[in-house]
Amino acid sequence: MTVDSAGAPAEERVRAVVEAHRADRGALLPILHDIQAEFGHIDQRTVAVLATELNISRADVHGVVSFYTDFRSEPAGAATVRLCRAEACRAVGAERLVTQVEQVFGVPVGQTTPDGSVTLEQVFCLGNCALGPAAQINGRLYGRLDEGRLMDLLAEGHA
Ligand code: FES
Repeated sequence: MTVDSAGAPAEERVRAVVEAHRADRGALLPILHDIQAEFGHIDQRTVAVLATELNISRADVHGVVSFYTDFRSEPAGAATVRLCRAEACRAVGAERLVTQVEQVFGVPVGQTTPDGSVTLEQVFCLGNCALGPAAQINGRLYGRLDEGRLMDLLAEGHA
């Protein structure tokens, strides 16, 4: 990964990703996916470089980044916890779990703890409806969660 001194994607690397997709139609989405995959986020400086390189407005790039939940504008925490809030999980206590987890980490869903250890996110169905409440921790799927089990998983390094 090529990053600058602040840990953000280096401009030359962003330009290289653009070049790799230059001939593609609708290149913005695949470019954003590549940058997200490589750097874990798409910051405002990267948005500006992409706007210049693709000859579109910053607002257009920002609009796409903010529309898709897969893209983030800031780096995620060491562990990303995605809590399912869809109907089947709600029916078995997902909202209680969300409230408890927000209290434990001191940040609402959508934010990262100040120490950068955990990012809380919400999702609406992980395809694990029979085993709710469900969540993903760093991409791994877990079911029948309560606060204690979720905290144990994080502490045990399953995340
Ligand atoms: S409703 Fe939560 S996994 Fe489907």
